[in-house]
Amino acid sequence: MSEYLWWKNGVVYQIYPRSFQDSNDDGIGDLQGIIQRLDYLKDLGIDAIWISPIFASPMVDFGYDVADYTAIHPMFGDMETFDRLLDEAHTRELKVILDYVPNHSSDQHAWFKESRSSRDNPKRDWYIWKNAKPDGSPPNNWESIFGGPAWTWDEATGQYYLHSFLKEQPDLNWRNPELVAAMENVLRFWLDKGVDGFRMDAVMCSVKHADFPDNPPVADDSPLKPFGFNLEPKYSQSQPELHNILHSWRKLFDSYPGDRVMIGETWVFDMDVLASYYGKNLDEFHLPYNFMATMLPWDANALRDLIQRYYAAIPAGGTPNFVFGNHDVHRPATRHGYRNHRSIGLLLLTLWGVPTMYYGDELGMEDGEIPVEFIQDPWGKDDPDLNLGRDPERTPMQWDDSANAGFTAGGVTPWLPVASNYKTLNAAAQIRDERSTLNFYRKLLQLRKTSPALHGGSFEFVDGLPDDIIAYLRENGDEKLLCLVNFSNQEYAVNISHVAAAGSLLISTDLSDPGEVDMNLFTVVANQGYVIKV
Ligand code: NOJ
Ligand code: CA
Repeated sequence: MSEYLWWKNGVVYQIYPRSFQDSNDDGIGDLQGIIQRLDYLKDLGIDAIWISPIFASPMVDFGYDVADYTAIHPMFGDMETFDRLLDEAHTRELKVILDYVPNHSSDQHAWFKESRSSRDNPKRDWYIWKNAKPDGSPPNNWESIFGGPAWTWDEATGQYYLHSFLKEQPDLNWRNPELVAAMENVLRFWLDKGVDGFRMDAVMCSVKHADFPDNPPVADDSPLKPFGFNLEPKYSQSQPELHNILHSWRKLFDSYPGDRVMIGETWVFDMDVLASYYGKNLDEFHLPYNFMATMLPWDANALRDLIQRYYAAIPAGGTPNFVFGNHDVHRPATRHGYRNHRSIGLLLLTLWGVPTMYYGDELGMEDGEIPVEFIQDPWGKDDPDLNLGRDPERTPMQWDDSANAGFTAGGVTPWLPVASNYKTLNAAAQIRDERSTLNFYRKLLQLRKTSPALHGGSFEFVDGLPDDIIAYLRENGDEKLLCLVNFSNQEYAVNISHVAAAGSLLISTDLSDPGEVDMNLFTVVANQGYVIKV
């Protein structure tokens, strides 16, 4: 049996810090709140937490607009609290992953203030400044991912600056060696403290084509269409030179003791581009995040096809990974129907690859309702009709049935409203209920950890079953597990004796009693999933 490596065999749990646990009753989650909940996370059975940005920030994009990469936002706590969090997590054998935002800083960052102060400021070239076209229009047609032009005119210095996201998030210039060195120092700062890794935000945007050509229009059938994009980011994302930067970061990570991990927020639509982020010699990201499952309908054929193409594209020795939920997409339980939420968990935790869970998905949390006057997300505020707002998946963690769900004190107004189902759907109630979703996740995480087949074994699809059922074998040495998920609302009685003559149920999404199963006539209940030892 090979060694259990946390980032290769373990499970990552994403904490959106504003929404996890408030410790000082200001309605916003904080680091001390996370410390208070570490035992919950340890009991859940995950290996690592990734915390979305906790750095100094005007919070225009809720922390993804960093004003100082090495300072903690006072709203979240201070450096002493962070050090304690790191220590307390490590004491519990939990790894800590932070968020690195290399594509852009806040416009309130000291670097940008200097850069915009004059054309000959030494930091002018740390950002991307260009002259207007002769008619005064922006240098090219690039659009911001949040809508509108990617260029904003600076009256004082008479040039445009580039921002792939909000105008308050100016893009850094990764072709400037001083900027590259300054941002490397940021990584060193945290790695020196003992942080176990980074998730790197919007990383594919970081390097642009040197000549800034116009981007071509998106095709009508492009997967980018539903996001409201009009242009293919051909020259603004995933440029070849980015790989040099990634490789240099990886060298830095590898120079540290322990297994420090580099995770990429590689939100791309092309499988080969995704695969390229492992690096030619597996010398870039350990885990380039695979978001493709978040864009699929609930359809067994579609997911089967994705899994096949994904595993085939990954370079030899690369570790796959799956994401079904995060702070940028609607909750899986909402997207795919509450009746399927445990099946999503079963897939996430039993497919070959590293799972990243999103806080609250272990309870089956659904999107919260956000009345228009409570909208916080700038992407939602701009055009509420497009329904692109990300607030619904960021509502406070539902800890118990007290006022504000135990996220913050009763009487306090939390930064986003608590979802209305918290009285019945909460962690405390689920801890008491043996057959709850939380107990399903705990049992499955425990099984995964103790099962080399699940956390590191081979993967093979099983044929000969109805299209609605995804079935696969995970195998390591003598251990062989059959996983089945029924995507439909229909029950099937199937013959699975071609897989093995005998089998015993280890866990099912409905937590029915484990025990021997009839391989000649196995009932696959509608919307349920199973792990059977064969
Ligand atoms: C991706 C992050 O996940 C998202 O929340 C953020 O708004 C953008 N990058 C910009 O940093
Ligand atoms: Ca707080």
